[in-house]
Amino acid sequence: MSNLNTETVLEVRHWTDRLFSFTATRDPAFRFKSGQFTMIGLPVDEKPLLRAYSLACAPHEDQLEFFSIKVPDGPLTSRLQMLQPGDPILVGRRPTGTLLLDNLKPGKRLYLLATGTGLAPFVSIAKDPEAYERFEHIILVHGCREVAELAYGEDVVAALKAHDFLGEYASTQLLHYPTVTREPFRNRGRVTDLMESGQLFADLGLPDLDPAFDRVMLCGSPQMIADTRDLLERRAFAEGAGHRPETFVVEKAFAER
Ligand code: A2P
Repeated sequence: MSNLNTETVLEVRHWTDRLFSFTATRDPAFRFKSGQFTMIGLPVDEKPLLRAYSLACAPHEDQLEFFSIKVPDGPLTSRLQMLQPGDPILVGRRPTGTLLLDNLKPGKRLYLLATGTGLAPFVSIAKDPEAYERFEHIILVHGCREVAELAYGEDVVAALKAHDFLGEYASTQLLHYPTVTREPFRNRGRVTDLMESGQLFADLGLPDLDPAFDRVMLCGSPQMIADTRDLLERRAFAEGAGHRPETFVVEKAFAER
């Protein structure tokens, strides 16, 4: 297990019967960039059982944070959801991923488009002061089936706006747009449909998407990514990756089914 650190769970918060988040200690030597993911897990029958998880914390923070779905018969999440403060958790030492500020060309606005637990890497980016230095506005769009599933994102944004240091950036530059598809809410509809119709931009008081000014990061289900990628490419956006900065970048939300 030389490529794994053993950390200690600090706090566990259950948001719905399907979603929870938890914090853990951080090895001071563990380095990552906002938007990256790493393998995390538990020892099962003496062997590490690991899955990829986005880091829902910023590089300057001294604790790690993760946002997870609970799958009743999922090999790892059925166990992870039982975590209690004080329990050990394995954390891979080699974070990676494409949702990096460096993989985008400079721009005016940064759209972070997430569905479900795809929110996690954007928590990290929304806490990164560099994001606010590079962009005038960060627009965090989170689509869920039900209102209760928005709670973690709402909590993160409220904490950011009240934060001693980051609050100054977040209260003026961070726009939050939660939307729900399966019950009444002030914003309704899929992220893709809201962009296609222009409703999202009208609600935010922003111009329609323009590759000259806007940069986009996507994280969600494979179908959400396919549909959003198609929408962006029809608007002349191009996908970036390591060492090839472009106008949008993509990561699938890691999910145990
Ligand atoms: P819907 O209720 O219409 O399926 P899930 O929990 O299944 O990952 O879904 C999270 C959110 O993503 C839901 O609001 C869901 O809407 C929405 N969604 C599902 N598929 C897509 C897609 N292809 N493009 C955009 N949003 C999607």
